[in-house]
Amino acid sequence: MLTDTSNNIKITRATESEIPVIEAILLDAVGWLNEAGQPLWAASVVKWDAISTFYQPSDFYIAYKDGIPSGCMAIVDYDPFFWPNVKKGESLFIHKLAVMKSARKTGVADALMEFFINKGTETGVKTLRLDAPAFRSKLLAFYERHGFKCVGTKTLKGERHTAFYILTLSNNILAQNKSSWNAIADSFFGVTALPLYGCLCPTEDDLHLFPNLSGRRILDIGCGSGHSLKWCADNGAGELWGLDMSDAQIKNAGDFLNESGCAPKLFCSPMERNPGLPLNYFDVVYSVYAIGWTVDLQETFNLISSYLKPGGVFIFSWDHPFLHCVDAADEKLIFSGSYYEAEPFTFCKGENRQNVRRGKKDGSYTVPEEGVPMTLYNRRLCDYINALSSAGFAAERVVEETDKDTLEREAEFSSAYYAPFKAKHFPMSIVIKARKL
Ligand SMILES: C[S@@+](CC[C@H](N)C(=O)[O-])C[C@H]1O[C@@H](n2cnc3c(N)ncnc32)[C@H](O)[C@@H]1O
Repeated sequence: MLTDTSNNIKITRATESEIPVIEAILLDAVGWLNEAGQPLWAASVVKWDAISTFYQPSDFYIAYKDGIPSGCMAIVDYDPFFWPNVKKGESLFIHKLAVMKSARKTGVADALMEFFINKGTETGVKTLRLDAPAFRSKLLAFYERHGFKCVGTKTLKGERHTAFYILTLSNNILAQNKSSWNAIADSFFGVTALPLYGCLCPTEDDLHLFPNLSGRRILDIGCGSGHSLKWCADNGAGELWGLDMSDAQIKNAGDFLNESGCAPKLFCSPMERNPGLPLNYFDVVYSVYAIGWTVDLQETFNLISSYLKPGGVFIFSWDHPFLHCVDAADEKLIFSGSYYEAEPFTFCKGENRQNVRRGKKDGSYTVPEEGVPMTLYNRRLCDYINALSSAGFAAERVVEETDKDTLEREAEFSSAYYAPFKAKHFPMSIVIKARKL
């Protein structure tokens, strides 16, 4: 139950006995929308006979303002008609959001949306979803005001032009990823660390992106087990600072670096927040295969920019954005995904991310049932470059290369996510060096 005391609104889950209340609210909404020349549903569609084909009474929530039924909505955890690729329980969906004419502009609609968002947070789902007629600009603006983002439009059966909206619950994603990184920290001990930048790509020994580190103040974002910081120490760095949101990684990094005779300053925090790092302080900030985990790229780059001195350098590596679009089948590489796909997707470490991301050939999705689920976003190259630019950086070098050894060797056909066969045709990783202006 939600109580909005300032507006005297109470929202409760509907019971069987409240079916007439739901019907009355929906019919009232049909009436005033028709009067306003903005028809949405036919009266026959909102009669309980019709509604009960899709919903139980307990799917509905009713808003009472000053004790009077004023609005309602249905919340379900499965919507195969509008979102066929989203497995039951992965997301929550809202339908039949309606407000009585007498309750317009009284805060009821806002209270219902707030309730929906709180419910998503409590349930732990990573996204909330809804669909709406694409031509209803006021309604779409209302959803956008509550943080929903349009992820596409489609003309469905009956020529209904429908807009699809998602709200990402970033804190739920961070909580899930943190717990999963804690579970697998030990198996990532020293796996992705400088001078390596990533998979089958040139190393720092080939690229020479770092300035002379002698006496410099260095910050590692997503420092993992601390092996990259050790590399910085070996190259003369003056101060070693690291940030990672996994307590297990921070513990491993602390133990490893202290045993190696280093005295790092380590922070257990998501990169989307400043846990107390000094501003305008660092000469170099870098991140080896961690930036892509951020739930807020722009905020992360803004923070990194704020930590750097003017003229300071930021270097990071991550999967090349093509990687999630290319499948390998029948000895061929096929550009079968969409470079534009920006929805967060959940996978288990070890699974082939392409299958997870786009659904398998039979249309089903591989959703983690065991192991360590993690949620990621696909981003385009322009997303990184534009976010850098907005954060006050100039990109100095973008590396899209496969290492020489892989290019020169024979490679057998393989559909593995990171495969030499693929790397001979396009880079598996990108490395970007930028400078704070
Ligand atoms: C592939 S590992 C990188 C390992 C590291 N570069 C090394 O040298 O060992 C990714 C790291 O990012 C961390 N991470 C994931 N999401 C994060 C977030 N939102 N904020 C901070 N760290 C995050 C994980 O805990 C993990 O240690």
